[in-house]
Amino acid sequence: MLIRYETPADFDAIHELTSIAFKSMAFSDGSEADIIRALRADGDLTISLVAEENGEVIGHVAFSQVTIDGSHGGWFGLGPIAVKPELQRQGIGKALIAEGLRLLEERGASGCALIGNPEVYSRAGFASDGQLKYQDVDTKFVQRIVLRGPAPSGALKFAPAFGD
Ligand SMILES: CC(C)(COP(=O)(O)OP(=O)(O)OC[C@H]1O[C@@H](n2cnc3c(N)ncnc32)[C@H](O)[C@@H]1OP(=O)(O)O)[C@@H](O)C(=O)NCCC(=O)NCCS
Repeated sequence: MLIRYETPADFDAIHELTSIAFKSMAFSDGSEADIIRALRADGDLTISLVAEENGEVIGHVAFSQVTIDGSHGGWFGLGPIAVKPELQRQGIGKALIAEGLRLLEERGASGCALIGNPEVYSRAGFASDGQLKYQDVDTKFVQRIVLRGPAPSGALKFAPAFGD
């Protein structure tokens, strides 16, 4: 498996993969694939990585800028992330996250935040101390990994493509 930056040739495959992976998720409103296209169109898709095997896109993760209490401060958001359903729970998501975090760190980012299942993301080093807040979501789902500087507190806001 190869993890690499997306190219224009991947755009449709990323869209399809994301639609399929989120289809059966109860929490999904089916907007995730369109969010990726909107992030790209807005110039907000800071890092977009694909996992490729035998020429097929089997996983994808997006990172975009976020603000915390209105200031960017070098923070990014992880998501959407998707792995081909038949290949989930084999470490592909974790590998995509690890590579994305490595690239963010290389770029001098302060950290990365996400809204998600703590069981999945604690394995990749994410945690919640209750200080980062997102709308009325229980703070245990609002997780972050600090790459440099202090742990953040305040209201998390994603890029406009997320329609926050
Ligand atoms: C979430 C997703 C991207 C994870 O990718 P993945 O390749 O299946 O995840 P990994 O195999 O790398 O698993 C990472 C860790 O999370 C755990 N994990 C993965 N899915 C889990 C689940 N549904 N429940 C609990 N733990 C889970 C794994 O056991 C693993 O822990 P380990 O390293 O201790 O073994 C993938 O399941 C997916 O595409 N889901 C549908 C779309 C979605 O929900 N996206 C995220 C929205 S927040």
